[in-house]
Amino acid sequence: MPGTKGAWRLLGVFDRLEAMSFSRRLFILVAFFVLSLPLPALAITGEAQIRGTAEDSPLHGTVLLQDAEGGLNVSLAVTGVPSGRHGFHIHEFGSCADSGNAAGGHFNPEGVEHGYLPEDGLESAHAGDLGNIDIGPDGKGSGEWLIRGLSVAEGPYSVAGRAFIIHEKEDDFSQPTGNAGARIGCGAIVITS
Ligand code: CU
Ligand code: ZN
Repeated sequence: MPGTKGAWRLLGVFDRLEAMSFSRRLFILVAFFVLSLPLPALAITGEAQIRGTAEDSPLHGTVLLQDAEGGLNVSLAVTGVPSGRHGFHIHEFGSCADSGNAAGGHFNPEGVEHGYLPEDGLESAHAGDLGNIDIGPDGKGSGEWLIRGLSVAEGPYSVAGRAFIIHEKEDDFSQPTGNAGARIGCGAIVITS
């Protein structure tokens, strides 16, 4: 295609290529190849900084979130909580105002009954029903969940813009919301990458 080659020559591309050393040409070829490789999909991550809802509360902690192969990875570490068992849920709205009440009810896009999400699944539990966390005598507790169906920011079960709530009492899995009492800890969920 002399016409095309002529056009390149007008731009000086061939002259420049011909003037280059072999290693320089090889470098450009490899660079083009590497740049054309598809980028690996970056896992979306999120977090929530948990704070006590009472003014003088020592309660604080962090929830880390990451989209994983089998669902949403949820990792909690919290301190300053009264020892014992406490309900731990995702509530609908990402606001902790009004002693955590502004977070609304349990995240429940399907309008199903309250349950224990890791066992009952999204068909028979609210999408926010993570159950309970156990707090030791030192006021510390932690937990790990892999929740099938939820995601940080994609689809109908995305949790960004919602809030984690730690309750005063244990979730006893009774209807309508597990009878876990007041909201002593709260943290809005934000996307971090
Ligand atoms: Cu709750
Ligand atoms: Zn619930």
